[in-house]
Amino acid sequence: MNLLITGGAGFIGSTFTLHIAEKHPDWKLIVLDKLNYRGRRENLLPLENRAGFHFIHGDICIKGDIAPLLPGVDWVVNFAAETFVDRSIMSADEFVRTDVLGTFNILEAMQEFAPSAKLLHLSTDEVYGEILEGRAAEDSPLRPRNPYSASKAGGELLVQSYINTYHFPAIIARPCNNFGPCQFPENFIPLFITNALEQKPLPLYEDGRQVRSWLYVDDCCIALEILMEKGKLGEVYNIDAGELRENIAVAERICGELAYDKSNIKLVQDRPGHDRRYALDGRKMTALGFKQSLPFEERLSQTVKWYAENPDWWKPLKSGEYLSFYRKWYGERL
Ligand code: TYD
Repeated sequence: MNLLITGGAGFIGSTFTLHIAEKHPDWKLIVLDKLNYRGRRENLLPLENRAGFHFIHGDICIKGDIAPLLPGVDWVVNFAAETFVDRSIMSADEFVRTDVLGTFNILEAMQEFAPSAKLLHLSTDEVYGEILEGRAAEDSPLRPRNPYSASKAGGELLVQSYINTYHFPAIIARPCNNFGPCQFPENFIPLFITNALEQKPLPLYEDGRQVRSWLYVDDCCIALEILMEKGKLGEVYNIDAGELRENIAVAERICGELAYDKSNIKLVQDRPGHDRRYALDGRKMTALGFKQSLPFEERLSQTVKWYAENPDWWKPLKSGEYLSFYRKWYGERL
């Protein structure tokens, strides 16, 4: 099998690439990544000398970067995206460019240079918008409410339009919030863990009662592999972790893990347009045999341990451009 993994140096993309490399030593893996601030070449270091592994520095928005990689490819797995909601609120340009136009570019390039290759496209549960009651199934309406989720919905709708119009062989995955090692320390869980390790305040939006479902990144990768094996072309699949949790409960748990005083949790001004609750109906994936491998609490504890033991990975990331973002975004909040 030959895979082209776009965005394969990012958080979920690199975890997926390492997972597939271990399970399928004979598969050829090409990673294309533009190495933006979240794409970390070092995430893929264990594969440096693996036969059949190739890293290409390039952008999904540039056809000339993708086209030469496509001949002979069986699957393209598209992780490449701008993903952080708060940054999309500050400036949406890169989100529209990569998440919408980049996806379009992949579709076009695949049609021209790899017409029989299949696409596994990473979308997100955020395309449903906030689900105040019940759970969103795959046929629920898409009501994205921030520039990030709207860009992801735009890209995904293009994939759906190609499936419908050209019988394009694609599967769309909509996972809930991922967490685990190697997540850039601006998302909620790694931000709170690393701030606690640095004895800094933990900025919890509004009342901290927003609800999310947390999926350990390895489980997400297992679900994606199941989709490549058993997913039906043309279909959409939610990938859910199961239980729903309020942010404040997660924040307090992180404090508990690190023996960090809970008074360091600071309720701060909310993110504009903040989706109050996400909740997925994951039964379609369960029917394919997917289930969460270990309880959230155990995985959170492992994740806390990983950040505590790997300051060399995350400390340099909390500097330079990130610090200016942090000061601008949290400056008035904290
Ligand atoms: P985040 O990791 O940005 O993911 P999402 O895409 O679901 O918004 O945030 C997860 C939740 O944590 C979300 O409800 C926003 C909240 N949050 C805070 O309360 N404080 C923070 O500093 C951040 C980054 C997120």
